[in-house]
Amino acid sequence: MAKTPMRVAVTGAAGQIGYSLLFRIASGDMLGKDQPVILQLLEIADEKAQKALKGVMMELDDCAFPLLVGMTAHSDPMTAFKDADIALLVGARPRGPGMERKDLLEANAQIFTVQGKALDAVASRNVKVLVVGNPANTNAYIAMKSAPSLPAKNFTAMLRLDHNRALSQVAQKTGKQVKDIKKLAVWGNHSPTMYADYRFATIDGQSVKDMINDDAWNRDTFLPTVGKRGAAIIEARGLSSAASAANAAIDHIRDWVLGTNGEWTTMGIPSDGSYGIPKDVMFGFPVTTENGEYKIVQGLAIDEFSQERINKTLAELEEERAGVAHLLK
Ligand code: NAD
Ligand code: LMR
Repeated sequence: MAKTPMRVAVTGAAGQIGYSLLFRIASGDMLGKDQPVILQLLEIADEKAQKALKGVMMELDDCAFPLLVGMTAHSDPMTAFKDADIALLVGARPRGPGMERKDLLEANAQIFTVQGKALDAVASRNVKVLVVGNPANTNAYIAMKSAPSLPAKNFTAMLRLDHNRALSQVAQKTGKQVKDIKKLAVWGNHSPTMYADYRFATIDGQSVKDMINDDAWNRDTFLPTVGKRGAAIIEARGLSSAASAANAAIDHIRDWVLGTNGEWTTMGIPSDGSYGIPKDVMFGFPVTTENGEYKIVQGLAIDEFSQERINKTLAELEEERAGVAHLLK
């Protein structure tokens, strides 16, 4: 028997990431090749953005995806998020000329307050929310705090791109394949302060740390390469990462919904206090997922270097949180 269609809301649907993301959702890459989907697409009311969105929808039509059973365009989150099972919050205000980080935080805080309230009012009570728009962790925190009637655990931020970047760097360094790397994780904020951690990682049961055996490479090459990868892509392409970001969003939701079969991945999730991260801070953790729920991998030893890195990325998140606290009153 055919499955009931799932409603997937996507914001910023006419943007760069949207253009890579929507076609893969509609082709079944995210929720499975037997799962019909309805796309509920949100863009700003601006005439040009809505026109561009219509163009993307024309192309989606022209793909004749068998799994795409419905599609609507919106400029109001209250209609876009109606009964949504999945919400991908991609649209955000980009940093403009002369804009300070604080201005960016405030502009986005407004967007994510409104969208959090709309999710609270109209989305499925089981909605799974992924925030991609930057600053992703703090935007996810704001949306979560603006949706008090939804479980906090339904709100997540995208650290998966950092996770995937780290996997590729480790594969290149060891000469092994990405698919064979297990138990890698990224802690903290989606920003250059994130801490990609391969201390527990294995390849064919062998310790990656022992294989690499080079703390200087970890500190001076690996962590800066992963942490500054977003900026390196902007420098090379003249635009921020889009296809790899969309791919990471697909990976994040697929693993959350369909499970990791005991393997680790990284998700930005509201802390439950594990590893000394204060409750509710939206933090990248190693997780496993099963039956649509994620669980933090517990009991990992945190050495002095790792603790320093975790403290640094936590301090940045707490600073961002303090910067928007007045908007959440
Ligand atoms: P883009 O500018 O190409 O597209 C963003 C779209 O969002 C635009 O079409 C814009 O009109 C729309 N938008 C803006 N405000 C909106 C709102 N309130 N409601 C609905 N739509 C809105 O940008 P992009 O390249 O697609 O990137 C989107 C965001 O994702 C940026 O914030 C970017 O920094 C972030 N990003 C995050 C990661 C990550 O790993 N977390 C990776 C790459 C990019
Ligand atoms: C990325 O990591 O590619 C994005 O968050 C874009 C950026 O500004 O770094």
